[in-house]
Amino acid sequence: MRPLPLLALGALAAVSGCADTASPHADDARPTAAATPFRQALSDEDLLARGEYLIRITGCNDCHTASYAEQQGNVDKAQWLTGSPMGYKGPWGTTYAANLRLKLADMDEAQWLDYSAKLRTRPLMPDFALRAMTQDDRRAIYRFIKSLGPGGGPAPAYLPPGQKPAAPYFELMLPGTSAPAVAQAG
Ligand code: HEC
Repeated sequence: MRPLPLLALGALAAVSGCADTASPHADDARPTAAATPFRQALSDEDLLARGEYLIRITGCNDCHTASYAEQQGNVDKAQWLTGSPMGYKGPWGTTYAANLRLKLADMDEAQWLDYSAKLRTRPLMPDFALRAMTQDDRRAIYRFIKSLGPGGGPAPAYLPPGQKPAAPYFELMLPGTSAPAVAQAG
């Protein structure tokens, strides 16, 4: 190795040694770091971006946006989360992923935070995943969905067990018949 990178490494080590001390430094680029040692509050912009990111990666679109998985995610944002005609049929009956844009239209942020922390639905909604999210993550999801505004119509209504839904629907053949066992699977 040439001498210059070695010198640079030495300088880096000295800097990181400095940063390990408890007192804040005048040259610290983040002056609020001392007040909030673990994380900083997210800005409105950060929340919006995080909401979109979470919606993309945690599967909300897979179920709550028609054809999202079939189109490999290439669905215009104007259609996102407007609900889906795809039914999920099992011992619980047939459920449909709701239109979240309409659902949130009448909810303020505090109502959503309370509602989403306690949400209990039928399968296949992973309500446990939403409940396990941090408040910031649920807030970010709210901000992003609200930014899309209301759109689309309501998803088909829930059908009780024993009623055959019209296509399209998935039918789940389960080892047992108890819905909670499915809700907790995976
Ligand atoms: C595997 C498919 C699936 C995924 C993934 C999914 N949902 Fe759902 N969701 C559903 C279904 C189906 C329902 C309807 C459940 C019922 O009828 O009880 C539902 C219901 C809901 C409801 C209740 C709506 C109402 O009107 O009561 C909310 C809120 C919700 N989902 C939010 C989300 C969010 C946010 C995400 C992403 C973190 C998400 N869902 C991911 C399928 C899914």
